[in-house]
Amino acid sequence: MKKIFFVSFAAVALMMSSAFAQELGSSASLKQNMKQLGTLFKAIGSSVADSSQNSKNLEKSQQMTVLFKIVAQQVPETIADLPDGEKEAALKDYQDLMSQEVALSEQLQQAFANNDNAMAAKILQHMGDIRKNGHGKYKE
Ligand code: HEM
Repeated sequence: MKKIFFVSFAAVALMMSSAFAQELGSSASLKQNMKQLGTLFKAIGSSVADSSQNSKNLEKSQQMTVLFKIVAQQVPETIADLPDGEKEAALKDYQDLMSQEVALSEQLQQAFANNDNAMAAKILQHMGDIRKNGHGKYKE
């Protein structure tokens, strides 16, 4: 029963997030999408220990997953500006970091669905470490 509930909850969240993607991510610039990621990350971070916010934070984590998948397809200027011989490897590394963020944001959804706030805090910390790495390499 619990499983059925989670599956249908996830289906609704997915429908909402694809509407969200149409509204936001797909036509927005990398900068705009990152700004939105920053807002979501901050909002989740400030309420990660508050279990009364878990369903809202599950939704926000879902939106982050959608955005990470979109930004993975966008090319930062720092990579576009590289000489041709260096672009491919940098883009692969950039996309690898984004895949890690996608996977972590999916784990974050699961942690909120399980009401495991300690796990959610750990995952968020890990996401922040990858952000630091990605910004160090690719943000001007
Ligand atoms: C939790 C994860 C992340 C968050 C919350 C986040 C948030 C942000 C924010 C707030 C900005 C500034 C947007 C603005 O100028 O208004 C930004 C810019 C940027 N981020 Fe992230 N970021 C994350 C992960 C990453 C990762 C993993 C990478 C690279 C692999 C990355 C690459 C960039 C780049 C290239 C920019 C500059 C975009 C531009 O101005 O064109 N970010 N990010």
